[in-house]
Amino acid sequence: MQFFDSHAHYNDEKFEEDREAVIKQIYKEDVTKTTCVGYNIKSSEFAVEIASQYDFMYATVGISPNDITDLQMGEIDKIRNLAQNDKVVAIGEIGLDYYWNKENKNTQQDFFIKQMELADELNLPIVIHCRDAVMDTLEILKHKINPKKRGIFHCCMLNPELIKEAVKLEFYISFSGNITFKSAKPKEAINEVPLNKILIETDSPYLTPEPFRKARNDSRNVKLVAQKIAEIKGLKLEEIAEITYENAKNIYGIA
Ligand code: NI
Repeated sequence: MQFFDSHAHYNDEKFEEDREAVIKQIYKEDVTKTTCVGYNIKSSEFAVEIASQYDFMYATVGISPNDITDLQMGEIDKIRNLAQNDKVVAIGEIGLDYYWNKENKNTQQDFFIKQMELADELNLPIVIHCRDAVMDTLEILKHKINPKKRGIFHCCMLNPELIKEAVKLEFYISFSGNITFKSAKPKEAINEVPLNKILIETDSPYLTPEPFRKARNDSRNVKLVAQKIAEIKGLKLEEIAEITYENAKNIYGIA
């Protein structure tokens, strides 16, 4: 059985001590593809650098809504340059986050739109980060710009209404460890997603699934996310592993 962890941050400082060992270990334990996701200029550069060292790892580059303070639009040119690298498979994570930042909604929206235009220019899909900003995110995708290669709602909120709309807009929906949390009620949300649009991710080093919640997360735990989805969909773990593997290859354009 093989797994594709569609979203992890091996560029995070929490992997500083043992990055190489962890990356080698996840591959040994059946996570034979993963994507290292950038969220600002520095982490995007680093994502490309790490992905270049491992055949099975890809990178995304982008500026997240929580990393745009004091940033000029011109910085997007740096993302454009980084995206020329062969290992870059998407622009992201980008989007809106009114939970951490509600003072600069207009700037967030400008950066989101500009980076979607960049994705279209480069023929890449996007990775969306959306927190407490469902209405504005959907509004922009419906009425301003919906990138032609579409993309992924990452660490998707368990909001069946959002998911219904996102699926209508032809986006993939990626679930993370939070579907395993004891307080979560993921059934209705997961059942909104057709099998050809579902992805699994860890968002490592964050969002460690049950029963390891206090530990640092890594891609091996993507199996626990897959297991939960398998239970809800009434399928075997092997089937979810295979379906999500193919879906991730499709959206990221990996042969
Ligand atoms: Ni992330």
